[in-house]
Amino acid sequence: MTPHNEAEKGDYAKTVLLPGDPLRAKWIAENFFEDARQVNGVRNCLGFTGKWKGMDVSVQATGMGQASAAIYIHELLDVYEVKNLIRVGTAGGLSEKVKVRDIIIALSAATDSSMNDCFAPYHYAPFADYDLLEAAVSLSKSRGYKTHVASVVSSDIFYVPNGAKSYGDLPKHGVLAVEMEAAALYTLAARFDAKALAICTMSDCLVTGAHIDASQRQTSLKDMVELALDSALKLEEK
Ligand code: HPA
Repeated sequence: MTPHNEAEKGDYAKTVLLPGDPLRAKWIAENFFEDARQVNGVRNCLGFTGKWKGMDVSVQATGMGQASAAIYIHELLDVYEVKNLIRVGTAGGLSEKVKVRDIIIALSAATDSSMNDCFAPYHYAPFADYDLLEAAVSLSKSRGYKTHVASVVSSDIFYVPNGAKSYGDLPKHGVLAVEMEAAALYTLAARFDAKALAICTMSDCLVTGAHIDASQRQTSLKDMVELALDSALKLEEK
């Protein structure tokens, strides 16, 4: 047990999905898992464990932003000895190359966070686990989803002062979307010798102002969760 997590050792499966929103964690457990049971409720940052197609799996909400996510992720890796972490979230497009509803699988994550000044100097480049990435990319493409394998920027600031312009030339350097957690996830997974991947649905575009609507959001979310779960299964079967 930790100050943020009341689960006992062994309560989490070795694979954990990571949405930001606690109610999304509950929705994933209720709609995708068999035999789901709640393992964490501290601060209502909900965690559940169950089964997907026979595989043990968990879901744990992270809250928003790297400061919050890093707490849950660190404890999952350090205390609960989790091995595979897959973020399922939304991202804002920084380029007209990406449209709302597209899936972005984050190969790497730039960041404005100072967290890596503490963990890893040399402007460390946080990167995805290759096996998880390969599984997710091939499944996503085979399902016909418009899939971008690209870099994201994990920003500490949602309300940036100048919209897409705040991110300067990052899109010219292959950074196609902004979200708020992947860099911390990748850094911590590397530190604990675990596998991590961030899969995001494009919920809005900072360049055009386009937004996903409520029904599209639900369909996209379902597709992304199934993609994440089946990618973990593919890895397990390897
Ligand atoms: N900024 C950060 N994270 C996001 C955004 C955004 O504009 N849209 C969706 N996730």
